[in-house]
Amino acid sequence: MAHPLYRPRRLRESPLLRRMVRETRLGVENLILPLFAVHGRGVRDPVTSMPGVSRLSLDELLKEAKDAASMGIPAVLLFGVPQSKDPRGSEAYAEDGIVQQAARAVKETIPDLLVITDVCLCQYTSHGHCGLVEDGRIKNDASVELLARVALSHMESGADIVAPSDMMDGRVGAIRETLDEAGYTETPIMAYSAKYASAFYGPFREAADSTPQFGDRRSYQMDPANAAEAIREVGLDVDEGADIVMVKPALPYLDVIARVRQEFGLPLAAYSVSGEYAMIKAAGRLGWLDEERCMLEALTAIRRAGADLIITYFAREAARLLERQRYASSL
Ligand code: PBG
Repeated sequence: MAHPLYRPRRLRESPLLRRMVRETRLGVENLILPLFAVHGRGVRDPVTSMPGVSRLSLDELLKEAKDAASMGIPAVLLFGVPQSKDPRGSEAYAEDGIVQQAARAVKETIPDLLVITDVCLCQYTSHGHCGLVEDGRIKNDASVELLARVALSHMESGADIVAPSDMMDGRVGAIRETLDEAGYTETPIMAYSAKYASAFYGPFREAADSTPQFGDRRSYQMDPANAAEAIREVGLDVDEGADIVMVKPALPYLDVIARVRQEFGLPLAAYSVSGEYAMIKAAGRLGWLDEERCMLEALTAIRRAGADLIITYFAREAARLLERQRYASSL
């Protein structure tokens, strides 16, 4: 019998060799940790469908942020849960809004940790939509004006990067213009460019209390069946001045991540959303999956598809495991 000339197993035999020829690296520098800020003191309000994730008052949020920074996680993504909601989402752009306070507190206490703020209205509006509503419809251009105001108020509170997640047309350009006029010409925009109308956001809506009170988000978020459209969406945001583009969710959309990677040279983020986290956590708790290994495999797969940055509720757990692995392989 002829021997096969190429035997892929030759390079799989030893752990050292496997490590040398590994194509994809997952490092702590790729991770971004989302945090939910609420008013009050000493508040740690667990999100039932996301074990390990809580809504935190600023004192508690600072502890988590410090912990993340000490593990080498470079950035947090801040979400706010306001005291009260109204049709125009006023707390989203209030000077003493919860995210504005959180951004200020983090930058004062942990200046080396990057603060990215989610720019949207849905947590702050009484109707729960990401824009302004008129006659039961979401108005694009009026919403864009407000979103630019939200982004500016985040900058004035010390945010390092703004991340618009609303999916209104033209918002990246409007935010760029507003920031530039105010002198924030060096502030990067991380745009949620290809954001799908996904059921995987379910647990987040519990965390952020942002479920739409009527209808759904399908008139502004993308149809899960579309991929060519994602390229058009990313292209628009790039033309409007986005510095980092994003695909969201991550795991069910790895093909979209790979396509965007191929088409554009910009840094690419992927948001591994609340439902992805909840699935692995739930199966882990039932003993049906090995939670730690599935987490690292999923994160590595998102990197392999082409994402430079991964927004994940697993950031701290992953950082801890990666550190342990690094230590073990240096022995
Ligand atoms: C706000 C926003 C959402 C998420 C991030 N920003 C919810 C939504 O669009 O309904 C989802 C994040 C997650 O599920 O982890 N627009």
